[in-house]
Amino acid sequence: MSGPTADLFADAALQQPGGREQIGEESYVLRGYALPWIERLLPELRRVLAQSPFRQMVTPGGFTMSAALSSCGDLGWTTDTRGYRYSPLDPRNQQPWPAMPDALRQLAVSAATEAGFSDFLPDACLINRYVPGAKMSLHQDKNERCYSAPVVSVSLGLPATFLFGGHQRADKPQKVSLFHGDVVVWGGVDRLRFHGVMPIKEGEHPVMGPQRINLTFRTAG
Ligand code: SIN
Ligand code: FE2
Repeated sequence: MSGPTADLFADAALQQPGGREQIGEESYVLRGYALPWIERLLPELRRVLAQSPFRQMVTPGGFTMSAALSSCGDLGWTTDTRGYRYSPLDPRNQQPWPAMPDALRQLAVSAATEAGFSDFLPDACLINRYVPGAKMSLHQDKNERCYSAPVVSVSLGLPATFLFGGHQRADKPQKVSLFHGDVVVWGGVDRLRFHGVMPIKEGEHPVMGPQRINLTFRTAG
C-alpha cells in the first residue's frame, strides 16, 4: 500500500496505546505507556506536591518561566538569576526534595528499557505544570553530570505539541503531538537534541483538569 491511505493507516497504528513511534535514531514515543501506572502514580504525585508545591522560577536572564516546577528524587533541577543547576535541597524551604516514589521510578526504568536503555538509574524527576498558554522554549538538557543516561518524559493531562529539534538551535524541529499517558525517551546520539513545548491550548482534561503535567526523569549526579 502506498499514498495517503497508507499514511493514514501508519499514523493510526502509531497512535494506538502500545505503539512505539521512532522519532530519532535513539528516540521513541511510547504511546499510552504510562496509562497502566496512572492509578498508582497520581496519589504518589499528590504526596510529592503537598511537600514541594509547584512554583514559578526565574531564568538566569531574569525571565519567569511560564511552566511551574517541582521535583522529587535525590536531586532537583532549579533555576534562579545565578544560573541553572541541580540541588539536593528544595530552595523554597532548604529541605531535601521528596523521595522519588516507587511507581514513578519503575515507570521510568521500564520505559527506558522499552526504548533500548536498560540499566537506567534516575536520581532526578522534574515535574513541570503547564496551564493553557504555558510553554517551554527550545533548550538542551545539559546540566546533568553525564549524558550516557537517557531522558524519560511522561505526559499527563492536556495534549501538547512537543518540538524535537536537532543538535543546533536553528535546526527545524519535528512536531510531535503528545497525549495523556504518552512517554518520550531520548538518549545516546540524540541525548543533547534541542526540544521544547508549544503553548498549551485551552482545555479541560477528564482526569487532570485544565493543565498538563510532565515528569522528566534523568540521571543528574
Ligand atoms: C522539559 O524539557 O523539561 C519538559 C518537556 C515537556 O514538558 O514535555
Ligand atoms: Fe528538557
